[in-house]
Amino acid sequence: MTAALPLPTPDTAAADFLAQFHAETGRPGLGARLAHVAAHGFTPTPEELAFAARVAWRNSTRCVGRLPWRALEVRDLRHVTEPAEVFARLLEHLRDAFGGGAIRPLISVFAPDVRVLNPQLIRYAGYRSADGTVTGDPANVALTDYLRSLGWGGGPGTAFDVLPLAIQSGRRVELFTLPTDAVQEVPISHPECPGIGDLGVKWHALPVISDMALNVGGVRLACAFNGWYVQTEIAARNLADDDRYDLLPRVAAALGLDTRRERTLWRDRALVELNVAVLESFAAAGVKIVDHHTVSRQFTRFETHETRAGREVRGRWSWLIPPVSPATTPVWHRGYDDRELAPNFERLPAPWDAPVRPGGCPFH
Ligand code: ARG
Repeated sequence: MTAALPLPTPDTAAADFLAQFHAETGRPGLGARLAHVAAHGFTPTPEELAFAARVAWRNSTRCVGRLPWRALEVRDLRHVTEPAEVFARLLEHLRDAFGGGAIRPLISVFAPDVRVLNPQLIRYAGYRSADGTVTGDPANVALTDYLRSLGWGGGPGTAFDVLPLAIQSGRRVELFTLPTDAVQEVPISHPECPGIGDLGVKWHALPVISDMALNVGGVRLACAFNGWYVQTEIAARNLADDDRYDLLPRVAAALGLDTRRERTLWRDRALVELNVAVLESFAAAGVKIVDHHTVSRQFTRFETHETRAGREVRGRWSWLIPPVSPATTPVWHRGYDDRELAPNFERLPAPWDAPVRPGGCPFH
C-alpha cells in the first residue's frame, strides 16, 4: 500500500503573503491561488504587487511618513527590460512624482533582472581631490568613483553636479544622463538673513530611493519609490552633518554668531535657521515638504488607524524621531518594537561592495 502523495504547497513566504493578501482585501479564492502557485511557481499578479508595495511602505520601520500608505501609486514595469526603456520610465517617474510641486508617492517596480545601481535617482557627485577634500556630497564619493569606472567623464565640478544613472539589465550596465528638466531643485535662502541665500546652496525636490528591493512573498523586485521630504533630512543632515555638506559654520557666520565658544549654542541656532530656510524656500518654490512636528503628529494618527485595524505598528525609534528638537514630538515619548514584518523593502548591496559576478545578478 502506498501513502497518498502530499499535495504540493508553495513555499511558506509566498503562502503567507497570499494568505495576508486574501485576508486583508477580502478577496475569495485563496485555495485556488495557492494550488496554482504550488504547481507553477509564484509570479505576483498586478493586484498582489500593488498590495505588497503599499503594505511594504506601511511596514517600513524607519519611515515616519507612513500615514498615506494606501495612496501609494504603483507602476508595474516588470515587462520593461531594455536599459534605455527603463531610463525613459524613470524620467516619467520623476515628472509624474513631482507633479508641478504637488509631489505624489509613487513606486516603479522593475523586471527581476533589472536594477538601478545608484542609491537614489537624484544624487550629487562627491569629487575627492588629492589633498583629501571633497567637492560636492561626501556621501557619494564611492558612487562617483564607481560611475567614473563605468566610463562617466565627470561633470562641471560644482558642489551640486547631478550624477548619471547606471542601469543594469542582466549583465549589461549602461549610463544615462538626466536632462536638467527632469531634476527639479530648490535654491535655499532665508527670509530674514540674505547671507544664507548667498551661500549658493540648493537641494533636489524628490527623494527617490532606488537601492531597495520589494520582497513580495520571497520574490525580490528592484524598484524606485518616492515620497516628499521632511526638511530635517535636508537641513539637519544632508547640509549640516560634518561628513556631508558641513554648512553650520558658514550659516553661523552668515547669522553673525559667535562661534568661538560652544556655550553660545551657535551650532543649534544655525541649525534651526537652516531648517527655517529649507522650509520657506520649498514653500516659496511651491514644492511640497513637511516639517518634523507635523509629520510626527501624522505618525501618531497612523498609529491610531493601525491600532483600530487590529494591527501593531513596528518602528525603529532612532529613525522615527527627528534630528532637531526630538523631545518636542510625541514619538520621542513612545516605544516601538523594531522587528520587521513582511512584505517589506530590503536594502540591496552597493554595487561597488558587491561586484557583478560573471553570469550573476548582484542582488540575488
Ligand atoms: N534621507 C534621504 C535623503 O535625504 C531620503 C530618504 C527618504 N525620505 C523621504 N522623505 N521619503 O535624501
